[in-house]
Amino acid sequence: MKISFANPATPKIGTVVVGVLDGGKLTVSAQAMDDATGGAVARAIKASTFKGSKDHSLAVLAPGGRLTRVHCMGLGKGKDVDALALQKLGGGIVKALKAHAASAQILVDAIEGCELEPHQMAAEIALGARLASYSFDKYKTKKKEHDKPKLGELKFHCADSAKAKALYDVEDKVADGVFFTRDLVSEPSNVIYPETLAEQAKTLARMGVKVQVLTKPQMKKLGMGALLGVAQGSANDPRLVVMEWNGKPKGRGRAAAKADAPVAFVGKGVTFDSGGISIKPSAGMEDMKWDMGGAGVVIGLMKALAGRKAKVNAVGVVGLVENMPSGTAQRPGDIVTSMSGQTIEVLNTDAEGRLVLADALWYTKEKYKPHTMIDLATLTGAILVALGEHYAGVFSNDDDLTWELVHAGRAVDERVWSLPLGPEYDKMIDSTVADMQNIGGRYGGSITAAQFLKRFVGDTKWAHIDIAGVTWSKTGKPTSPKGGTGFGVRLLDRWLRDKIEK
Ligand code: BES
Ligand code: MN
Ligand code: ZN
Repeated sequence: MKISFANPATPKIGTVVVGVLDGGKLTVSAQAMDDATGGAVARAIKASTFKGSKDHSLAVLAPGGRLTRVHCMGLGKGKDVDALALQKLGGGIVKALKAHAASAQILVDAIEGCELEPHQMAAEIALGARLASYSFDKYKTKKKEHDKPKLGELKFHCADSAKAKALYDVEDKVADGVFFTRDLVSEPSNVIYPETLAEQAKTLARMGVKVQVLTKPQMKKLGMGALLGVAQGSANDPRLVVMEWNGKPKGRGRAAAKADAPVAFVGKGVTFDSGGISIKPSAGMEDMKWDMGGAGVVIGLMKALAGRKAKVNAVGVVGLVENMPSGTAQRPGDIVTSMSGQTIEVLNTDAEGRLVLADALWYTKEKYKPHTMIDLATLTGAILVALGEHYAGVFSNDDDLTWELVHAGRAVDERVWSLPLGPEYDKMIDSTVADMQNIGGRYGGSITAAQFLKRFVGDTKWAHIDIAGVTWSKTGKPTSPKGGTGFGVRLLDRWLRDKIEK
């Protein structure tokens, strides 16, 4: 979708979008369009049930001259118009127009009670529109031309349009990252497996990201027995991808060297999770193509950071494996030795994500000594039981970090909620024959999984985000169509901007 910004205008042709406030009160540009159409807009509102409420809209068709449509979007009360509401509005515009218009002009002006200036409002609406415009239809070879969304161009008119463009240009790069994640998550497992997912990550090299791919022999040498155990049943060999974005201006001296330490993001990249020998029931197993969602977020985030040239040093590490049953597959009861030296009794081969992350986290900590490490994983079905599909779960050894993530999530509508860690839960994964076992008891499954990860982060400040409930949406939201959501990219991008890049 092409998005541009220009100064205020009253278009005489095509499709025009204006805002209407609660009670049917016209905004300045809605009034201008009404004047230009001999009162057609106000007449249409009067003749309809549309009264400017949030999430409602009214199409005024062929209102006069060469105008095809004046589309009135309900804004609700001025004081409720905030960044998230505007992003949703942008999504609403795309939904309303995508089947009807190839392009549209959107008129944005100051609203009483709203804290944002028109150029800020325009940038938020534009971001929402761009995020909503995503579709994954590359495998639909028979889709008819007239079925395809044709809305390809949006032009925003507002005061200080150059400032609007500057704000949007940054968000546009973040949206590129979100789209990359959505693409990767949407691809089926015969297309995206460890080798090909690593190739996708490698494409970031042209944006200045240093990308290194470790293959099986290299991981063997490093002693990554936990990750390799999961991979051993599959015909597709595992990979570990390390991405580095060094965007922070270099400091001098020894204190600076510490300040140059990176922040690290680690992702679970199980490109297909059959469960292994502890095989899953067949119903819904196709969902396990997106069990690489955590890795997808880390790769998309690195793209966003490189795209907007973030002033931060960030490392992204993704452990890529396929979890399959076969004659060479890991058996329940097997004991593996992780890179940390700690041994793990694998009581359930379907609790594989934590085994992959155990080695990925340890490797990241040892090699990069990050000041903070955040992992993302579609780790447990239990997180869906606890939080449903609207919040991800966050676990951390640092309360400040937890709250920072909660706040960043609220700001971008990728919300996370904190769940506890503690010695009582840690005890639940002690094994009778090894240092630990890979499953806890019947209850608190997301917590025991997090507790397992905690044994591989040492003293590093760390958070684990369980995204099993939010990575894929069967229904969709105003700014994310059904399918892969990209949940996590904007959350972490916002956290970096607010807390690390300052
Ligand atoms: N990938 C699954 C978790 C999952 C479930 C992700 C539903 C997305 C939607 C994970 O590897 C898994 O199988 N976890 C098991 C753990 C259990 C064996 C302790 C689970 O949640 O049932
Ligand atoms: Mn599993
Ligand atoms: Zn899994």
